[in-house]
Amino acid sequence: MKTAICPGSFDPVTLGHIDVIERAARIFDKTVVVVLENRGKSCRFTPEERVTLLRKSTSFIPNIVIEHSDRLLADTCADMGDVVIVKGLRAVSDFEHEFQMALMNKKLNARLDTLFLTAGERFQYISSSVIKEICHYGGDVSELLPPEIHDEVVKRLRRDISCRTM
Ligand code: PNS
Repeated sequence: MKTAICPGSFDPVTLGHIDVIERAARIFDKTVVVVLENRGKSCRFTPEERVTLLRKSTSFIPNIVIEHSDRLLADTCADMGDVVIVKGLRAVSDFEHEFQMALMNKKLNARLDTLFLTAGERFQYISSSVIKEICHYGGDVSELLPPEIHDEVVKRLRRDISCRTM
């Protein structure tokens, strides 16, 4: 059985992520989405919240499992057997960082390969950070977030803003 691992911080999951996850699930027998920590980012949602948001957004995909890991991705994958990392690649800006992570994961776990799916044209400019920024200023993110979680995420991000400004 061929298993894809879709790793990310997913803070929160976007329609761009869903596009890549859905395509991976069509190519592989099973897809495991792993919510990980990115120590270069400070997250607005807890790992449990990010897992729940992903589950709600992917409930229409049958061959998918959502998990959390607070370990290295390479070690997490080593425990899962025969897996391939699948990541989405947006414009040139993603390339250098993704290239470095793919090589480092291979160094940490020689059996681990990374496949890149070109991000869909409609999703090239979407990122979790941009969504948080737009929400901060009260802008419309309805075309950027999965519909299943849109209201919950916007409410949560706006609530956090009003708490901070009190
Ligand atoms: O969605 P992101 O933030 O771009 O995803 C980056 C992520 C979470 C996949 C990466 O930071 C990661 O793999 N974190 C787990 C810890 C780890 O393995 N770090 C070394 C990466 S070479």
